[in-house]
Amino acid sequence: MKNAWSEDEGRQIVGAVFPHVLKAGSEGIAPGKVEDEMLLELGGYTDPLPALDGVTFGFFEGDPAPLLAAVREVEPNWAKYYDGREPAFCAFVGGKVVSFCLLSDFGEREILGQRVKVGGTGCVGTVPAYRRRGIGLKMVSLGTAILQERGFGYSYIHDTGVPAWYAKLGYQTVYRRENPVK
Ligand SMILES: CC(C)(COP(=O)(O)OP(=O)(O)OC[C@H]1O[C@@H](n2cnc3c(N)ncnc32)[C@H](O)[C@@H]1OP(=O)(O)O)[C@@H](O)C(=O)NCCC(=O)NCCS
Repeated sequence: MKNAWSEDEGRQIVGAVFPHVLKAGSEGIAPGKVEDEMLLELGGYTDPLPALDGVTFGFFEGDPAPLLAAVREVEPNWAKYYDGREPAFCAFVGGKVVSFCLLSDFGEREILGQRVKVGGTGCVGTVPAYRRRGIGLKMVSLGTAILQERGFGYSYIHDTGVPAWYAKLGYQTVYRRENPVK
């Protein structure tokens, strides 16, 4: 497997994981924004980032109210996705959720002729008071490492508006939708 794909390969990959994206055009995208589909080949992936003082990471357990409050603070529309069907992987400071993502299992897919397990992190957010401290990226990196340990071949990021941020971990855009400002 490899970590660079041609435009044609990118379309094939998206077609194998989220085919509806290829037909969606610029639907739902604000002018001047992009929505990228990104991929990282996981062979040997380990978290390259240093530990963060006072921040712990783990799967959310127990009463979901504090998790949902954090999600709503970042993006109210995402609360419906944090309904317990997919595990939430989080960052905690003093026991409080400060950053969160869903660790998704998209199942086994045929990626460029090879059947492989595809997962990914989704609906990633850091509550505003804790942003720009490296917490969100560290959480996504640890989530990515968990996928690697669990035998996933690829991590796939669906519909992200922050491709430069994911690229810091090696994720590559395989397909971009955009709404150019006219
Ligand atoms: C995007 C988001 C999750 C980043 O969380 P965060 O915890 O502030 O991110 P980090 O502090 O770990 O970022 C680490 C690095 O990425 C940079 N960065 C942060 N946001 C960025 C962005 N939108 N684009 C590019 N780089 C970004 C930071 O400057 C930092 O770089 P540095 O270490 O070189 O200074 C957060 O801004 C957020 O919740 N946004 C709203 C929801 C959203 O857009 N989610 C995206 C997933 S679809």
